[in-house]
Parts: sequence; structure tokens; C-alpha cells
Amino acid sequence: MTVDLTTAVLPASDQAVQTAESCLRGGGLVAFPTETVYGLGADATNGAAIARLYQAKARPAFNPLIAHVADLEAAQRIGRFGPAALQLAQSFWPGPLTLVVPKTESCTVAELATAGLATVAIRVPAHPVAQAILRALGRPVVAPSANRSGHVSPTTAAHVHGDLDGRIDLIVDGGPVTVGVESTIVGCFDTPVLLRPGGVPREAIEAVLGAPLAQPQAPAGAAPVAPGMLSSHYAPRSAVRLNASSVTPGEALLAFGQPLPPGSEAASRVLNLSDTGDLTEAAAHLFGYLRALDGKSPIGIAVMPVPTHGLGEAINDRLARAAAPRP
Ligand code: TXA
Ligand code: MG
Repeated sequence: MTVDLTTAVLPASDQAVQTAESCLRGGGLVAFPTETVYGLGADATNGAAIARLYQAKARPAFNPLIAHVADLEAAQRIGRFGPAALQLAQSFWPGPLTLVVPKTESCTVAELATAGLATVAIRVPAHPVAQAILRALGRPVVAPSANRSGHVSPTTAAHVHGDLDGRIDLIVDGGPVTVGVESTIVGCFDTPVLLRPGGVPREAIEAVLGAPLAQPQAPAGAAPVAPGMLSSHYAPRSAVRLNASSVTPGEALLAFGQPLPPGSEAASRVLNLSDTGDLTEAAAHLFGYLRALDGKSPIGIAVMPVPTHGLGEAINDRLARAAAPRP
């Protein structure tokens, strides 16, 4: 008997959506595109499938997952939406925003996915392939980024394949993603809290709420509120040096805008997140370019400064994690 250790990759189609649906229904693991990054999906109501998912990603089990649903109505079956949560859902869903809300009595999401918390993180993705799979299944789907824990998040099906081939059942290839950084996570508590900067800029959320978002306050030694806060995360193998104003010979350069810093001529390779300094374009390129530069094993990756407004907050957050000391 031969054992198939490779994972099927299907181009997005109605047939691929059906295959994904039956695979998820049977407790399988399916990677699929969302507008932010590729997600690794499992039936959120199936504890055994979720246990396999943690194993495939080699993810610390205390890190809770986001439940993805097709629309607000499905979201309200698993989470309780107060006025602020409702306002945010109506303004930004479907889209790159995750809301953490109290679970409903009848919440079907497995305890393993919420790490035993009384709250659940919910997102309604906009990507047509994600939408089609969620509608076909009619159940919430947990989907962390489809990479091994600690690696750079995947923005193409090829990235997913490189990280998870043989460890998951299926990859649906919907081409490169458009947003490129993970969803913004807002905790809808008494005062809404920004738990993770992401694809919806803080400014846009604050404009809808008419008030500033609070910063999370993790009690010392406590389990992280949004363990996206684990310090080294999104880590390339090469050392990453931020706010570089010059390039050392042999370093790769992750540039942003023009002009390039002194020493760029001697860089092993230069990739510009956005020649024109456009933050939306930069977010879409971020993870793919980090992977591409890292692939050539440079002596290090120098990163030019990136502004901190709009999507720049999420970009700088991910870059800071990529540069953080490794465990
Ligand atoms: O864009 C995205 O959000 C992608 C795509 C695939 O949808 N997914 C994603 O999932 O980034 P993941 O698992 O990598 O990030 C989930 C984050 C973690 O930081 C986790 O701690 C936080 O959500 N989270 C989940 N449930 C939570 C809860 N009840 N309270 C606070 N944080 C929670
Ligand atoms: Mg991730």
C-alpha cells in the first residue's frame, strides 16, 4: 500500500468549492484564499478537526482561533453583538475585520477553538471563494493563517504548499490575495479595544465609532488577550533590521518608496514594497517579499522605514514581529 503524502491543489471553481465543502464536513483541513491571507480551515464545530489543525500548524493550543461565517446573521448565532459591535459589523463586513464578542448560549464553536474563553472571535471574509465555501458548508469555519506557526503568513497557494504539503488535505488556489495583512481584531468590550492592527486601518474604525480605540492591557503573566501578541511571529529565517538608513554589503533590502538608502547598490537583492509609497500596495506585497528575500539566505534583511498611519500600523506591527528576538 502506498501512502499519499502530498496535498491536492485545486484551482478555484464550483467543483473545488464542493470538494472543499465535503472535505470540511468530514473533518478535513482545507486551505483557501481570503482577501487578507490564505486561511487553513476546519469545521469550527468539530473538536477533533480543530485538534488536527493545531497539530498541522504546530500552533500553541492556548492561541484561540477566528470563526469565519458567511454573514452577520450567521455571526449572531454564535456571538452577542452590542451596539458598537453591530455598528462595526455593518460598516466593515464582509471584509478584513474580526470582532471579539461574548459567545451566545447556543454557540456551536468548539471549546478548543476558543481556548475555553467566554468570547469568540468572528469574521465575515469578502473573498468570493471563502464566501462560497462558507455558504456551502453552512457552519462556522475556524481559519488561522495557513502557515506553520511562527512562519510568515501565506499570500499565495504556493506559500501554503511550501509550508503545509502533506500535513493538510486540500488547497484551493484562488490566486494571490489582495489585502496582504491579516484582519484587524477589535475586542467589543465596554470600551472597544484594538487587539491587533490589520487590514482595516484604525482611523476608519475610530471614525465609525466616533471614539478612539483603547489599547489592550494584558495583566503580567496572564495568557495573552490576543496571542497575535507573541513577540516573535511572522519570522523569516534571516535577521531583520528595521528603519535602515543604509545597507551593508550582502544584506537584502526591503524598500519602501524612493529614494533608496546609501549602499543599496551593494544589496544582495532589492524589493520595493511600493515605489510610489502606497501603503495598500505595500501591505499586499509585504509577506511575499519577506519570503522572497529570505529564500536567498542573505546575511540579513534591511527594511526602510514605513509610515505608521493607515495600513502602515499593521505593516509596522508585522515587521516588528519579524525583527523580534527568536525564542
Ligand atoms: O485575516 C485573518 O484574520 C486571517 C484569515 C485567514 O482570516 N486569520 C488569522 O487567524 O489571522 P489567526 O489564527 O492567525 O489569528 C487569530 C487571532 C489570534 O491573535 C488570536 O489570539 C485572536 O485572533 N483571537 C481569537 N479568539 C480570540 C478571543 N476570544 N479573544 C481575543 N483574541 C482572540
Ligand atoms: Mg497567523
